[in-house]
Amino acid sequence: MSSAPIYEATASAPVNIAVIKYWGKRDTKLILPTNSSLSVTLDQDHLRSTTTSRADPSFEADRLWLNGKEDQITAGSRLETCIKEMKRLRKETVEDVDASAPKLSTYKVHIASYNNFPTAAGLASSASGFAALVASLAHLYALPASPSTLSLIARQGSGSACRSLFGGFVAWQMGSDPSGSDSLAVEVAPQSHWPQMHALICVVNDAKKGTSSTSGMQRTVETSPLLQHRIAHVVPARMADISTAILARDFDAFARITMADSNQFHAVALDTEPPIFYMNDVSRAIIALVVEYNRISLAQGKGYKAAYTYDAGPNAVIYALEENVREVAQLILSYFPQTPGEFKDVLGIFSGAADVNAEAKVPEGFNEAVAKRFEVGAVKGLIHTRVGDGPRKLSNEEGLLAATGLPK
Ligand code: DP6
Repeated sequence: MSSAPIYEATASAPVNIAVIKYWGKRDTKLILPTNSSLSVTLDQDHLRSTTTSRADPSFEADRLWLNGKEDQITAGSRLETCIKEMKRLRKETVEDVDASAPKLSTYKVHIASYNNFPTAAGLASSASGFAALVASLAHLYALPASPSTLSLIARQGSGSACRSLFGGFVAWQMGSDPSGSDSLAVEVAPQSHWPQMHALICVVNDAKKGTSSTSGMQRTVETSPLLQHRIAHVVPARMADISTAILARDFDAFARITMADSNQFHAVALDTEPPIFYMNDVSRAIIALVVEYNRISLAQGKGYKAAYTYDAGPNAVIYALEENVREVAQLILSYFPQTPGEFKDVLGIFSGAADVNAEAKVPEGFNEAVAKRFEVGAVKGLIHTRVGDGPRKLSNEEGLLAATGLPK
C-alpha cells in the first residue's frame, strides 16, 4: 500500500441577501449584470453550504454530489465552467510558476456539497453553494488568489454567488469590460463594522413553482422599459447612497433605500411581459406590518427601525438592529403564529420560551387593522440571524468524502 498524499480541502460559505438587487444580464454566458448590486452576508453559523473537493489521479471523471445525491456535470454548464476555471487558475498561478508543484489541474475532482438548510425553504442555495465550491477548490489548489479574484469565477456559477466570497457588506461591481474581468465583488465593510445588523427571515408557504431568477431576469431585460430607467437612473445613486449609509451605520437611510430597491425590483418584475409576481398575500401583509411599525417610529422622530426585502419568491427578509429585532419578531408572531416547537431561537431573543407564540405582541399605538391575522403555517418558519463572515476553511475531519472518494 503506497502512502500517496491525499489532496483534499473543505470550506463553508454563507448566504447573502441583496439590498440593491441584481436583476438582468448583459452577457448570459459570462453572467455579467446590467447593474451593480449590494448585499449583506448572513451568519454561516445558521445558514451555510459546506463543500469538500478532492483531486486524485485515480478518479475517472469530475463528479459532484449535492446533499448526497449526484448531480450530472453537463458540458457547457455553469458547474463545468467553474471547475474548469479553477483548474486554469491552478495551472497558471501555481504549476506554471513552480515546476515542483503537483499537477493537480490535470487530475479529476470529486466534490461533495451539503446545505444545512432545506432547499424546500425556498432560500437561494446557489449563492452559498457556488461560493463554497470555489472556496474549497481554492484551498485544494493552494491558490494565491484574493476573494475578489475568486468572485470572478463564482459569478459564472450564479451571479449572486460572487457576493458570498466576502463577509459583511458586499458590492458586486458590474464592470464594463466585455471579458468580465472587472465584474467582481468587493467588501464595502466587514462584519465587525456593524455586528448589530440582524435579520429575521420569514419563510412563507409557497404552493406554486415560481419563475426562476435566471429566466425571469432575461424576460425583464427583453421586455421591461422600466428596467432601462432603473439601470441608468436609479441604481448608480442607490449604490453610492447605501454604501455611505453602511459606512456611517445609518440604519434609517439603509432601511429607506433597501425597501425602495426591493419595491423597484418587484415593479420591474411586474413590468415584464408577461408579468412576473413573486410576492403573495402573505408577503404583502408583512410589508404592511413593517410600514406601520416604521410609521410609529417615524412619528416619534426615531427614523426607520425595520427594512423588508424580497427576492425571487414570497419569503421576507427583515433587517433590523439587534436592539429592535425582538420587537419585530413579536410583531410578526402576532399575525403569523408558529407551530409550537418549530421556531429555532438560535440567538436566544426569547431566551428559550417554551412556546414562542406566547411572546406575540404589537407595539404601543400600532394600528392592528393594517393586516389580517393568518393561520399557523402561512409563515412556516422564522429564522433569526445576523451579519456574518466570509467563507471559512474547515478541518479535514469535517470533510464530506469518505476514503473511497464517494460521499460519506
Ligand atoms: C432576486 O444569482 O440566482 O436574488 O445569475 O441567473 O444564477 P443567476 O441568478 P441569481 O439571481 C439573484 C436575483 C435576486 C437578487 C440578488 O440576489 O441580487
